[in-house]
Amino acid sequence: MGKVIVAPSILAADFSRLAEEIHRVEVAGADWIHCDIMDGHFVDNISFGPDVVRLVRKETSLPLDVHLMIEHADHYVPRFAKAGANSITVHVEPEARHDVVKTLQRIRDAGCRAGLTLNPETAFELVEQFLGKFDMLLVMTVHPGFGGQPFRADQMGKVRRAVAWNSSGGHKIDIEVDGGINPKTARISVENGANVLVAGTSIFHSKDYAKAIRDLRGE
Ligand code: DX5
Ligand code: ZN
Repeated sequence: MGKVIVAPSILAADFSRLAEEIHRVEVAGADWIHCDIMDGHFVDNISFGPDVVRLVRKETSLPLDVHLMIEHADHYVPRFAKAGANSITVHVEPEARHDVVKTLQRIRDAGCRAGLTLNPETAFELVEQFLGKFDMLLVMTVHPGFGGQPFRADQMGKVRRAVAWNSSGGHKIDIEVDGGINPKTARISVENGANVLVAGTSIFHSKDYAKAIRDLRGE
């Protein structure tokens, strides 16, 4: 298996000095920067929008991994692509109120990698029907909306089912986990087959970002 990708979620960063936080995680060995976009409708929290993503883009050359926890993602995809996103992940639940196939196509047409994600309560079959139309599956290991929640190990079955897709040939996808990722739950996720780890609290609330990232990789 290739190297594990670590994607710090800036939701847990100190926004009063965001540029410095981004430089610090980049120097510490981050692979991607994960941007959590929340609209107060699809999830019960509001974070930030394309203008902040554009500022992040100016501060780093690392790939920006944008996770849209919003309604009508199709409408906003071009703005996030223009702001500098490299991958854009959207939710499959009907409450996200968009045509998933069209949105995934719109993401790829904008030159980004397309991600699809599902909440812990959502059945895996819902994403299965879109296989081939996305480049990354994000398995939510908490209910989205807030950082700092405990990891749900019961979601690992979804990771293993995605691994089975990859080994059955055809289109290979990245398998990302998001929520409650710390050194222990990172190991569980990687053992089950995840190759991208999103982590907010365990990196940005630590003193030594480089050590936190190494610990997530199990180095
Ligand atoms: C959850 C977000 C996550 C979250 C992760 O709604 O999608 O990216 O910020 O934060 P931690 O690592 O603190 O669980
Ligand atoms: Zn996220």
